[in-house]
Amino acid sequence: MAHFMAGQPEGFIIMQKIAVPSLNPRRYAETFAVFVEHSLEYPQMLDELVRVTQFLRDGFRLLDIGAGTGLLIRSWSERAGSIRPGRYVAFEPNPRHVECLLATVAELEIDHDIQARPFTLDTPLSKEFDLALFSHSLYWMPDPALHMLHAVSALVSGGAALAFLGGPYGVHAMFPLFEPFIERTTPMLQNNAISSHELVQGLRSYGAEPQVRILPTPIDLTGLFEPSAAPQLAEFISFCMQLEFTQLPAWLQADMIQYVQGGCVPQNGRLYWYLPTASVLLSLSNG
Ligand SMILES: C[S@@+](CC[C@H](N)C(=O)[O-])C[C@H]1O[C@@H](n2cnc3c(N)ncnc32)[C@H](O)[C@@H]1O
Repeated sequence: MAHFMAGQPEGFIIMQKIAVPSLNPRRYAETFAVFVEHSLEYPQMLDELVRVTQFLRDGFRLLDIGAGTGLLIRSWSERAGSIRPGRYVAFEPNPRHVECLLATVAELEIDHDIQARPFTLDTPLSKEFDLALFSHSLYWMPDPALHMLHAVSALVSGGAALAFLGGPYGVHAMFPLFEPFIERTTPMLQNNAISSHELVQGLRSYGAEPQVRILPTPIDLTGLFEPSAAPQLAEFISFCMQLEFTQLPAWLQADMIQYVQGGCVPQNGRLYWYLPTASVLLSLSNG
């Protein structure tokens, strides 16, 4: 909707912002499940996790911040020859995810301490962990670098903190293009304006130099632009923009769809959106 405002030069059009709710925790969990269904990044993240944690021994102590449904700990544990944590402490505030996470750790028979609350800068920690993991959770924290450094304070000598986070492409590039058109009527949970780029700059500003790798991870959107898949596409873009896509006007829905579709590449009969995930590692040297 556009209209002329009094006092503006003739022909000057002011766009009225579109009021739309952000995803609530239940809708977040639902749309995240759709995103994960299409994502091909987890095997590459797992390879990277195994590569950077070769220093760990069986019975290691793991701090998993934003553990979600436990997808990563499950696939890590299922990896042939992979070692298992002897102590597993997880922070996860989403009740739906906590439910799945509890089922996952029970099934995997991992001794656990699941904290159904957010990890914050005030979370008391003792120096007891070999690895602190943030798998796609730092978007939620107001100063991601500081939160990562807070977790580093819980590492024993020789330990490491590893963050997986979207690189400054795809969803991150899309987010600021459309955000100015909308007025969120409820608070946004996950801030997709945060990428590995902002995290790395933040860490440097606090004097820490991470090791960064950009993983060439695509997301498989084959069939998602077919008319019959419209509801699933709506869920996918809802997750990307962290809002209720179906409540947007048709022209804005069309622009968002065009943005995602335009960035896709057909290959071997599939349709991929290139969405590189970054691995950001801080290691504490021994001694
Ligand atoms: C994108 S999901 C990633 C889940 C899982 N780590 C994975 O890679 O599949 C991000 C998770 O972080 C959780 N989260 C958000 N804020 C958090 C906080 N302050 N502390 C811990 N977890 C948080 C969310 O509830 C959500 O389950």
